[in-house]
Amino acid sequence: MSEAKRLAGEKAIDYVEDGMIVGVGTGSTVAFFIDALARIKDRIAGTVSSSEQSTQRLRAHGIEVLDLNSTGPLSLYVDGADECDGHKRLIKGGGAALTREKIIAEASKTFVCIIDPAKRVDVLGKFPLPVEVIPMARSLVAREILARTGAQPVWRDGVTTDNGNWILDVHGLAIVDPVGLERELNQIPGVVSVGLFARRPADVVIVGGEPPIVL
Ligand code: A5P
Repeated sequence: MSEAKRLAGEKAIDYVEDGMIVGVGTGSTVAFFIDALARIKDRIAGTVSSSEQSTQRLRAHGIEVLDLNSTGPLSLYVDGADECDGHKRLIKGGGAALTREKIIAEASKTFVCIIDPAKRVDVLGKFPLPVEVIPMARSLVAREILARTGAQPVWRDGVTTDNGNWILDVHGLAIVDPVGLERELNQIPGVVSVGLFARRPADVVIVGGEPPIVL
């Protein structure tokens, strides 16, 4: 599967234009994108990173990482996903970086999502839905999610996000209304963000393969 990830990551370079500030996601597929971006680093104006993990990799390549507050809107965001449906709606957050990923996706004109074929699904939810929560609200949010959805939230014990928060992974969802569920879960006090990218789906999806498929 890592070959498919590499092919998707490298194909996303087609969307990088000279002088751009590029939003960069997180994960093993994005790692291939970062490595490919390093080969053209002199052509871009810098990057905005969605995680400490990606920042480290970018800086190791000598690629500049900028603060989103100083860049204004971005032209391009490239990131992976844990699941992708036929409407380019996504589940993300398997790597616990969902909140910064969502911020950069929102700030970007074009969101290019890079995945391997196993990520494509008809209905989102087989991959447990990550929800980032303020630590003191963990139990409250878990009870609310169970009451509202009937699905089972599981604390990702031992994981603290780059923002100092915790993750609940919600098991057993079949998400027939992704926009509605995203809105509903966002309203629970203590929820920082939900790993459903439905209100702001990807614009382009690249499925790694020989050749890559662009949706
Ligand atoms: C990070 O929190 C996630 O949203 C990743 O984008 C997602 O888990 C994709 O990961 P891989 O590219 O490693 O499969």
